[in-house]
Amino acid sequence: MTMAEMGIMTAELEARLILEQRCRIDWGKIIADPGFLVPEQERRKIADDLEERLQGRPLSKIYGKKEFWGLEFEVTDDVLDPRPDTETIIDIAVQRFPKDADIKILDMGTGSGCLLVSLLHEFPNATGLGLDISPKALAVAKCNAQKFNLDSRAEFVESDWFAGLDESLQFDLIVSNPPYISNRVIPDLEPEVRNFDPIQALDGGEDGLQAYKIIFSTINLFIKKGGTGLFEIGYDQKNDVMRIGRESRFSDISVHRDLAGQPRVVEIYCGDK
Ligand SMILES: C[S@@+](CC[C@H](N)C(=O)[O-])C[C@H]1O[C@@H](n2cnc3c(N)ncnc32)[C@H](O)[C@@H]1O
Repeated sequence: MTMAEMGIMTAELEARLILEQRCRIDWGKIIADPGFLVPEQERRKIADDLEERLQGRPLSKIYGKKEFWGLEFEVTDDVLDPRPDTETIIDIAVQRFPKDADIKILDMGTGSGCLLVSLLHEFPNATGLGLDISPKALAVAKCNAQKFNLDSRAEFVESDWFAGLDESLQFDLIVSNPPYISNRVIPDLEPEVRNFDPIQALDGGEDGLQAYKIIFSTINLFIKKGGTGLFEIGYDQKNDVMRIGRESRFSDISVHRDLAGQPRVVEIYCGDK
């Protein structure tokens, strides 16, 4: 059965990517050369890749890399595949602080490190801390910080949200894409997500809101006066997450949409302390 017959919507694009990856050549060069033949030694590998893909494994997990904010991140089975929607957080952050700002950034649930690494890449004078409950995810995040020569400005710590942080730590910018899927709907997710993203990266508890409740109840201790928090949300969680923010005594709360027009990021501004 082909990828298209399997209902893989991006079958044509993915077939191109497999060819490009295995033959180490751009698609443009392939179509510009009517005599192009896939080298014999690559055919077996391509057949194996297709077989894995037909089992539902995403290409990012097969090749161990995924692009985010124009950077190519290493990914493993231990981290969520970075998603384009999450770039909305970076989009907003670069509007909030000048490029040369000497800011301190906290990334909660750093996973592959895509948020923290992209932010440090954007703000050359910033320093950052990435935390995660998963030591295996932290190893991937460290590897990505090294890959982009940002490890001198990035630290990583194993922590259950704020529980492992010293209260003397104060941040200008706190970002998070926490797990926000209700555990009731996890069995209905696409197999690519359900079977290949770590459950810890998806499971937001019974109502999907568990992480926001924990984080918002304590964030005030760690955010500087004048600091900003940016949190990814599910498309239908805007009202609930804003309510949790207000209950945690944040009055300056706004919602930002992603490129598809869906509510995607809740911003809290810490005007007073
Ligand atoms: C949705 S993933 C986001 C990963 C990455 N920041 C991104 O945007 O692609 C959520 C991350 O939160 C981590 N996580 C889940 N529960 C946590 C907890 N109690 N404390 C800290 N991190 C947690 C998971 O291990 C996972 O890496």
